[in-house]
Amino acid sequence: MDHESSLLKNFEPSWDINILKSQINPEKMPRHIAIIMDGNGRWAREKRLTRVAGHRAGVKAVRDIVEASVDIRLEVLTLYAFSVQNWERPKREVNTLMRLLVEYLKKELPEMMEQDIRMIAIGDLDRLPSRVRETLAFTIEKTKNNKGMTLNLALNYGGKSEICHAAKQIARKIKEGQIEADQIDEGLFSRHLYTADLPDPDLLIRTSGEMRISNFLLWQLAYAEFWITQTLWPDFNRAEFFQAIIDFQKRERRFGRITGFLGRKR
Ligand code: IPE
Ligand code: IPE
Ligand code: MG
Repeated sequence: MDHESSLLKNFEPSWDINILKSQINPEKMPRHIAIIMDGNGRWAREKRLTRVAGHRAGVKAVRDIVEASVDIRLEVLTLYAFSVQNWERPKREVNTLMRLLVEYLKKELPEMMEQDIRMIAIGDLDRLPSRVRETLAFTIEKTKNNKGMTLNLALNYGGKSEICHAAKQIARKIKEGQIEADQIDEGLFSRHLYTADLPDPDLLIRTSGEMRISNFLLWQLAYAEFWITQTLWPDFNRAEFFQAIIDFQKRERRFGRITGFLGRKR
């Protein structure tokens, strides 16, 4: 495919949604899509609104994308909602983000049950404000037996701290004699990450044009395909989401190999 054009999109929203949907090949679906939802602040500034209004508009986009993901039978959707670095923002903004999160979880629970969504969360969850922790725990518990899509929220998440957390757990197990240092391999390490039970993301989407990973899933994105759009998160919609998946399906994932050669035994 035209690689240049897939790097940075200025999306034309003139497509009919069902035509787009029909172009998605169900046999080549990414199992796991991760999204860096960025640009709420810029969206608000463009409209001369407050950043709070931007975040509120961002929640609407979350709803649309979750619904679209269920619609195309995606297995796992991970949304980067709050990073460990985001605590550095003004207190008012942090509080708003936490409040919107609680509101979202409460409001969406019936819909999650209806859509058979299993909600989980990754990150240093113990350090979230108690009302967030409680609502989160309640939602996770209520949806734990659902069999449809897994909706994974990254909250107080940082890729580097996740790796440190895994290393600490492994070190403790070695100290207690449960495992030997020589047993550490990629599989064992992965099983100590927050994402232990999830497949690695196949596709990473980032909105609002920034070409960086911002401490997101550093280990798990090792071979993910990146799809970056200029669209600001509140304007991101299912048409563009489907376009990202269609583009993903045109790419050739080589995993370090050469086309047509499946690799030799090592
Ligand atoms: C993303 O939008 C939302 C969060 C990080 C929680 P931003 O708030 O980062 O928006 P910009 O980057 O300032 O436009
Ligand atoms: C990434 O967005 C974090 C989330 C979407 C939660 P940021 O806006 O925090 O990232 P930077 O500051 O542009 O790297
Ligand atoms: Mg940002």
